[in-house]
Amino acid sequence: MSEVKNRGGFGGKLVAILAAAGSAIGLGNIWRFPYITSENGGGAFIIIYLGCILFLGLPLLIAEFSVGHNTKKNPIDAFATIKRGWGWLGALGLVSVFLIMGYYFVISGWTLNYAYASATNGIGGDFGAFFKEFTSATWAPLICTYLFIVLNHIIIIGGVQGGIEKASKVMMPLLFVILIVLAIYSLWLPEGREALGNVFTPDFSKVTGKTFLDAMGQAFFTLSVGMGAMLIYGSYFQNGTKLSGTAISVVSLDTLVALTAAVIIFSAGVENESGPQLAFVAMPKVFSTMPLGNFWATLFFLLLALAALSSTISMHEAVTSYFVEKRGMSRSAGATLVTIGAMALATVASLSLGVWDGVRIAGMNIFSLLDNFTAIVMLPLLGILTSIFVGWVWKKEDMRAELTAEGGVDATTYPVIRFLLRYVCPVLVSIVFIFGIIDFISSL
Ligand code: PFF
Repeated sequence: MSEVKNRGGFGGKLVAILAAAGSAIGLGNIWRFPYITSENGGGAFIIIYLGCILFLGLPLLIAEFSVGHNTKKNPIDAFATIKRGWGWLGALGLVSVFLIMGYYFVISGWTLNYAYASATNGIGGDFGAFFKEFTSATWAPLICTYLFIVLNHIIIIGGVQGGIEKASKVMMPLLFVILIVLAIYSLWLPEGREALGNVFTPDFSKVTGKTFLDAMGQAFFTLSVGMGAMLIYGSYFQNGTKLSGTAISVVSLDTLVALTAAVIIFSAGVENESGPQLAFVAMPKVFSTMPLGNFWATLFFLLLALAALSSTISMHEAVTSYFVEKRGMSRSAGATLVTIGAMALATVASLSLGVWDGVRIAGMNIFSLLDNFTAIVMLPLLGILTSIFVGWVWKKEDMRAELTAEGGVDATTYPVIRFLLRYVCPVLVSIVFIFGIIDFISSL
């Protein structure tokens, strides 16, 4: 019991939802979801995506919460406690989340620069050129990235309640307010409402095997599943927290934010722009034509920065917990090690958009490689393995006890969750994974 007490935990059920929703809602919702949607046929992609969220993402999120909450341990020890010899699955998740940090921190850094530049009218007239020049420069993006990592560091060394919980309580309400203000404003514009219809209308001709893989990868990414972040948060939930209820709240909030972000972006009339530049090139361009454009642009990039920060602290915490609990380091020493490691990898990722652009693997620079490898390979793989673990390896009675007692999945939904985890997730994710990879490789 004292061991559990020492590792800290969230003070209440609402804050558990806020923190986990903070992990889920991030660049994935506001930066990635809109451009992946527009690349994959709009409404058609959204339908497939929602299916992935409901039938694959939600059960996996419940599974991951359960493993953390049941053991109250870091990802490696959590898996190993439930079944000896399975600690590697936690380690695989932590390696993946570390790789994600490498490029995610770089984009997070950009949001700071863009918020500042928008507020001070510093972007100028050519938005594409500004983006290219800034992101491929050596020092400016690196300094922003380091600043963002240091913000993370400060929150993490504050501890679970003093750092993560406090930050979530401030950041999440602010994020929702900004999002709602921006959504109302964009729907108020008549051309906004018109553009919306075009984007959400399904275009099934663009659907390929890769579309399913993209939808699934996006669903896993946006819910932060498989990588230890949700597991570690689950381990901090109070006894008696309803895991299924918390997961449903997180999934609902996350989906709502993704759809709202798509509404904001597409209603601004940028549906013709696609790719990762959507948020950074098209949005400032659109804002610049509006009254009070700088104000709206600043608000938009603050929204991105807040979303990114509440996600990156969960990544940082997952890896830090390993050094603290498994390697016996103090919280500040463990966090410092993660911070330095993240800075090193993010430096490589950032420079790979500029001076190191020539270093390419499978035609991709390091930045794209980190993004693609984690989204297309690691996330589905972790999804398959986690569902096999919870559905087949974890002793049935123990898993049932966790989910039906404290976990709160009632007797009728428990068999559904178990069925999804035992059969639907491993089979469906494997099929999509294999066909998607074949499709992806042949497109290279
Ligand atoms: N869910 C976050 C997003 O949508 O931006 C990204 C993320 C957070 C991935 C935490 C992985 C993770 F462990």
